[in-house]
Amino acid sequence: MRHETRKIDGLILRSDKTVLLLVGVAALLCLATWSYAQRSSDRSRNQEGNNFDRQISENSQQMLEQGKRIFRFDTFGDEVFWTDKLKLQRAIAGAKLGVVGPGVSPKTALSVGLKVDMDALPADLVAKVKRGEVNMDDPATTLALIKLNAVLGVKGTFNGDGSLKAVGLSCAVCHSTVDDAFAPGIGHRLDGWPNRDLNTGAVISLAPDLSAFTSLLNVDEATVRKVLASWGPGKFDAELNLDGKAFRPDGKAAATLIPPAFGMAGVNLHTWTGGWGTVTYWNAFVANLELQGQGTFFDARLNDAKKYPVAARAGFGNKRSDVDMVSAKMGALQFYQLAIPAPVPPAGSFDQTAAARGEMIFKGKATCAQCHVPPLFTEPGWNAHKASEIGIDNFQASRSPDDSYRTSPLRGLFTHMKGGFYHDGRFATLLDVVNHYNSFKKLNLTEPEKNDLVEFLKSL
Ligand code: HEC
Ligand code: HEC
Repeated sequence: MRHETRKIDGLILRSDKTVLLLVGVAALLCLATWSYAQRSSDRSRNQEGNNFDRQISENSQQMLEQGKRIFRFDTFGDEVFWTDKLKLQRAIAGAKLGVVGPGVSPKTALSVGLKVDMDALPADLVAKVKRGEVNMDDPATTLALIKLNAVLGVKGTFNGDGSLKAVGLSCAVCHSTVDDAFAPGIGHRLDGWPNRDLNTGAVISLAPDLSAFTSLLNVDEATVRKVLASWGPGKFDAELNLDGKAFRPDGKAAATLIPPAFGMAGVNLHTWTGGWGTVTYWNAFVANLELQGQGTFFDARLNDAKKYPVAARAGFGNKRSDVDMVSAKMGALQFYQLAIPAPVPPAGSFDQTAAARGEMIFKGKATCAQCHVPPLFTEPGWNAHKASEIGIDNFQASRSPDDSYRTSPLRGLFTHMKGGFYHDGRFATLLDVVNHYNSFKKLNLTEPEKNDLVEFLKSL
């Protein structure tokens, strides 16, 4: 009995083991199958992920290229304004090419600050220019340059016989310059660097028909010409067509400097003044209301007839062109602009040791970093201040929705030493800016400290 039982026990025991073994093997198999399935589903998920990652990369590359083209060459259909209304194309061609007036020679174009992209010129033309074989006094040369897309921001359309049919302007006319590598005004493109030589008033004044401005502003042509002449190089008045204010209470032109359009990633508010909006807000504003492209623009704030009488009269707060050549370009344009870095100052353009001391003063005794927060050098958030906080008049601030000035991001100051600092260039040098803060904020900076601070600003 005992033996049998043991035997049975053994059997039971053995069969238990077998069952356990079988269960174990099955479990292992299950585990293996499951983990295989898991691995392969992870793999396919990863593959999907990689695909989407790839889509993101491809998209960014595409948007960058598209945006660059838009920034440089797109007129948003603004030929309806510059050609059909202002007839700027006639002024460029001139009498010799069958139109009126002297025309615009390359010399004239360069003298009003227009820039030429040397990389757009074929090698044989470059060689000819070098040998002095190209007539820089002939408007026909200007047309040839425009045809090559070599005049920054000026886009021509040509008739079959080679004559200029239409001309339009792009963002690059004001927001790019060249490095003068070939000659003054002729060099490699520098997108985003403000063109502080460009006399926008003089360029617009070339137009034979200014009735678009006289009727918009309700003034005579002599007044329009006087206003355009008051701006000077590097300046433009982006609010004139909203509030009609051409001059400040002190009698000086109301125009502001062309600001840099680089280093804008991470910066909330744009333009010199506060409350307008983001980069893409302002882009839509400019493409529709300044360049007068054909598009859609909406901003109910411009219906305020007290603050913006001209805009309210013209219905700028709700613009709907028959064809929209703006809206589809906003994404890529913004993407490109945000990708333009602030350029690094060339070695030797500032004193490094002094700049290092200046950084401590900027962040410490001079309290600059309270508003110009590194590394953006403007405040993350609502980066705007009342005129009284920076010790200046509020004329320009009061033309903006927020009645404020935007804290200027300070990177790349070395690119715009021409034309002065602050929105209207009221401070000729960086030392003048520092002296202003020193007296306004009673900072008690010593002369060496001021100098260090200036060297730091030059290093940004
Ligand atoms: C006629 C010259 C001119 C042209 C053309 C022009 N701009 Fe401007 N831009 C200015 C001026 C002047 C300001 C400053 C406006 C202000 O503060 O009221 C400005 C400001 C800006 C700013 C704000 C930069 C900052 O400081 O944050 C952006 C962004 C900008 N422009 C984009 C564009 C785009 C995009 C185009 C083309 C659709 C364009 N601009 C065409 C003159 C121009
Ligand atoms: C209360 C905030 C605030 C403080 C503090 C401040 N700034 Fe500014 N800063 C501004 C604003 C706002 C502007 C734009 C003024 C304008 O548009 O006219 C500006 C403009 C500037 C500019 C001109 C930039 C240009 O492109 O023209 C410089 C340079 C500058 N600040 C340097 C300094 C220095 C140096 C200090 C410290 C001594 C300082 N800031 C302290 C708010 C401030």
